[in-house]
Amino acid sequence: MFPLVATIPTDQRLIIREAVASDAADVLLHLKTVGAETDFLSFAPKDIKRSLESQAKLITESQAADNHLYIVAEINHQLVGGLHFRGQDRPRTRHSGTFGITVLKDYWGLGIGHKLIEALIKWAQRSGVIRKINLKVRSDNHRALRLYETLGFIREGCICREYCLAGQFYDNVCMGLEID
Ligand SMILES: CC(C)(COP(=O)(O)OP(=O)(O)OC[C@H]1O[C@@H](n2cnc3c(N)ncnc32)[C@H](O)[C@@H]1OP(=O)(O)O)[C@@H](O)C(=O)NCCC(=O)NCCS
Repeated sequence: MFPLVATIPTDQRLIIREAVASDAADVLLHLKTVGAETDFLSFAPKDIKRSLESQAKLITESQAADNHLYIVAEINHQLVGGLHFRGQDRPRTRHSGTFGITVLKDYWGLGIGHKLIEALIKWAQRSGVIRKINLKVRSDNHRALRLYETLGFIREGCICREYCLAGQFYDNVCMGLEID
């Protein structure tokens, strides 16, 4: 089902495709950039300690696994967004997994996050394996909460104080989407 091509409101051509090992350097740079642009992620740029080789391995493993998906969003050959879904390992839980999503700040509000998650949902529906998509989001990340709710994710619970930044605690909201 990949690549997917769309035009965003700026009239730019957006391509959503599966990540390949040679994207590793761009993916690491992207994560460090977005990590510096927002406090809503569980990591700051300095927390990304993964080597180029282990990032490439992660992408290759995702390509090989039937319950993992690593996709990137590109405009003019620049990586502007990414989504990494990981199904669990054990037989009793491998039908469910969680994902992380990032879009470069310059491109927020253009529907790229929406398109990435829509692609994940379509892939999950066709996977024959995935029956549940889970995520965790900081309770004050209103942009992300609205996006997930628009796409049908339901609030399932809350993990209080899971997140701590500069001595301030934040709650994480658990959300989920059933795939039938
Ligand atoms: C969250 C994120 C992935 C969303 O990507 P995006 O491309 O900006 O998302 P979209 O443009 O598809 O949709 C954003 C939605 O939020 C809405 N929105 C924008 N600003 C908002 C705000 N301040 N409060 C509430 N909703 C807001 C938009 O109207 C849109 O909703 P709609 O589609 O119903 O109109 C992106 O902002 C990001 O990478 N943030 C930093 C990392 C992050 O928070 N990741 C998620 C961690 S759980």
